[in-house]
Formats: sequence, structure tokens, C-alpha cells
Amino acid sequence: MDWVKEFYRKQNQLSKECYSSEVEDYHKDKVSIISKYHDSNKRIRILDLGSGGGQHAAAMAMLDNTEVVAVELLEELCSHTKDLKQKHHLNNLTIICEDFYRLQFKQEFDIVTYYDGFGIGDDEDQRKLLKLISSWLKPESGRAFIEVYTSWFALSSSLRPVDIFRDVRRQYSYDFANNRLEDSWWSETKDNKRVTQTLRSYTPPDFRLLLEGTGLKEEFSIPCMAQADEWCYPKGDCWCKAITFMSSLSHL
Ligand SMILES: C[S@@+](CC[C@H](N)C(=O)[O-])C[C@H]1O[C@@H](n2cnc3c(N)ncnc32)[C@H](O)[C@@H]1O
Repeated sequence: MDWVKEFYRKQNQLSKECYSSEVEDYHKDKVSIISKYHDSNKRIRILDLGSGGGQHAAAMAMLDNTEVVAVELLEELCSHTKDLKQKHHLNNLTIICEDFYRLQFKQEFDIVTYYDGFGIGDDEDQRKLLKLISSWLKPESGRAFIEVYTSWFALSSSLRPVDIFRDVRRQYSYDFANNRLEDSWWSETKDNKRVTQTLRSYTPPDFRLLLEGTGLKEEFSIPCMAQADEWCYPKGDCWCKAITFMSSLSHL
């Protein structure tokens, strides 16, 4: 997991759109999945893991009666989240700049989310995180929403041509031995050094196997981020085009 800080730092530098945007409609669309479990008359506590620039955390804090804790490793991304908090007067948003494996909380959460980013490390690392999530959730009613990269996107992405935007290049590849999506970024004009993230991808039944021993079970999974230009966040039913799926988890 040693690539994590360097990769996300450089990705943020190369593509400001990734992490330094405003809260857009697609962020609001994506977080709408939690509304199923959110009775707006009751205050709920939400923990957002790997919150990046904070757009999803802010979108959740904009909903009625939510209290959101966003956890992010990189200072510069926490700083952008603080800007969003200030700009939108989100006093119900707390930002913790920390490694989520090191977190301890006195109070449990109604909802834990992890948008775009699950799969760093090996299966044992994912199980460790899922066990932690289980311990952070309220015993009966707690729900987690984990966005997981699909194995078929990981495989097919290796056939994609190099993406080009301005001087930035992005190339996907696939690690067949370990079923991992590899995503490399570099600049043609700056230092030219490639950085690569490698994320374990899953099919829904593989993900259910991963849950064994974590204290969590799948309630449902739905296609989430989609290929091509259609960003059909949870509204979509296009499994074949799904880059990611969103898995809703509860205690066993
Ligand atoms: C692909 S980004 C997604 C950001 C955000 N969730 C979104 O959807 O816009 C993944 C984020 O997780 C953060 N991250 C990865 N491992 C982490 C850890 N152990 N603790 C806290 N944040 C972590 C990275 O720094 C990065 O900002």
C-alpha cells in the first residue's frame, strides 16, 4: 500500500477535476443511495472513508439531519474539503486527516460510505477494513455502502487506448494473476514520472466471499459508475457497462 499517498497526490496535481471540483449533480446523484435509509426526521451519523476532495461528504452533509465525518489521508484534499465546508456553511461536516485503518470512535455510525477507492491492498487488508467498518456501525440498523471495481471493467480496460487530456496521459492495465485494475498517470511535459494505482476488482459473488468472517452481509448490490459517457450512478441497471458496483452491507 506504499503507492497510495504518492499516487493520489500526483493524480490530484495532474487532474484538478478529480478532487478539486465543486459539489456537482453527479455527486448528489451518487449519495442519493443513502436516502433509502435516511428518515430525514431523525438525525443520522455518517462516516465517509477515503473522502478525497470531499464532494460526496459535502453532498451528504447538505441533506437534512445528517452529521458527516469525512476521513482522508492527504492534507491537500482535506484542505479542499474544508473549503467546501466553509463555502456551503456545513457545520455538520467534520474532517479528519488520518489513515482510516487507525481510526477509533466513541460513538457508532448509522451509515459508513466508501465511494471509489475500495480494493487497495490484498484481500486480507480488505477484510481488516470490513471488520473495522462492522465495528463502527450501529449494531442493528447500521448500513455500509461500498463501491467496488468490477472484474470485467478491470479486464476490458487493459484494451483501452491511452487517454489523453492536455499533456496528461492515463493508461489502464490488468494484473491477471491477482485480478487487479492498474491505472497509471503521467505528464508528457512535466517530470514524466508514472504513478500507478492497483485496485483489487471483484464480481458480486467474489465480494460476498470476501465478506466471510467480517461480521457483514450483502443486502443488495447495484451497478454504479458506468462506462462511456453515461454516468448512470445508482439509477443504472447496466451491469455489463458497470465500472463499479455499489454494495449495501449490514450486520449478519
Ligand atoms: C479514488 S479517491 C476517491 C475519493 C472520493 N471518495 C471520491 O469518490 O471522490 C480515493 C481516496 O482514498 C484516500 N485513501 C486511500 N487510502 C486511505 C486510507 N488508508 N485512509 C484514508 N484515506 C485513504 C486517498 O487518499 C484518495 O483520496
